[in-house]
Amino acid sequence: MSRKQLLLPVAGLVLAAALVLPGCTRAPSGEDPITIGFLVKQPEELWFQNEWKFAQRCADAHGFKLIKIGTPDGEKLLNAIDVLAASGAQGFVVCTPDVKLGPAVMAKARSHGMKVFTVDDQFVGSDGKFMDAPYMGLSAKAIGRKVGRALHGEFLRRGWPIEETAACAVTFDELNTVKERTDGSTEALVEAGFPADRIFRGAEKTTDVPGAFDAANIVLTQHPEVKRWLVFSVNDEGVLGAVRAMEGRGFDADTIIGIGIGAGTGLMEFDKEQPTGYFASCMISPLRHGYETTELLYKWIKDGVEPPRDVRTDGVIATRANYKQVLVDLGLEDAAGE
Ligand code: GLA
Repeated sequence: MSRKQLLLPVAGLVLAAALVLPGCTRAPSGEDPITIGFLVKQPEELWFQNEWKFAQRCADAHGFKLIKIGTPDGEKLLNAIDVLAASGAQGFVVCTPDVKLGPAVMAKARSHGMKVFTVDDQFVGSDGKFMDAPYMGLSAKAIGRKVGRALHGEFLRRGWPIEETAACAVTFDELNTVKERTDGSTEALVEAGFPADRIFRGAEKTTDVPGAFDAANIVLTQHPEVKRWLVFSVNDEGVLGAVRAMEGRGFDADTIIGIGIGAGTGLMEFDKEQPTGYFASCMISPLRHGYETTELLYKWIKDGVEPPRDVRTDGVIATRANYKQVLVDLGLEDAAGE
């Protein structure tokens, strides 16, 4: 038997093993074979762009490949998982456009042998309960309460007459992590003595500036008697949409106290020369939600280290006066705007 005849079956076996065994889909030596996806529901929102930015920083630090895909609906999300699989990805971090897609996403990931780390919005199973997939989200109730307490503090400091003042809450109760925020703010305001019947809720159809603008305009039309407004919502975009609606009706920095939640969009208001109704921000961390989630998933894939199942991150209230320092403290110097 010739040397070539002897080697051929061996080569065939190696090829077959490479096709069947996931561990054999190795890239050429010297190159890290790990590829990770990062899928977000609203790629136009600065929060998600910042998550991507910090996830990329993690990928660069460890030398793996990161594929970022915007997935604004279920079809795009499920297709993106196939695209990732075809690109050799072993897992992905995801903020889903709809939490009820959880079972479908997990099933598809399982069919490709991929690991899943959820961020921001927690999957809900067919039984209506949160699913047991690794998750990093906000301590949403506590953050909402901080916003409520800060609103009340500033309301007292300004000495506004309660009979001229009301609160506008731009809400989105379909999504738990954001419902908890506005519920927390309402609770804290009422506990501090603000009358519950002077908190007016406007439900937004989408958690962005146009959605909040429309929701707030309805509240404003219903309450022309209100002269001064406190504003809170699920995120920065919610507060900004409401502030813009109020400005359209003659309210300004002297008659609006708006406090958002985020680390990007709202901060642009502080860069304007003249103060606006966006008074403060509860600053949260796209660094942790972008870098840390990606790193936990990377170590899970690479070293088999199981990530924690449920991590909650906090927020810190910042105003025009101190937000730059808070950005530095949070390691977010380059998170505000691009
Ligand atoms: C939700 C909101 C986003 C952002 C994240 C933070 O996904 O829609 O605007 O606040 O939570 O976790």
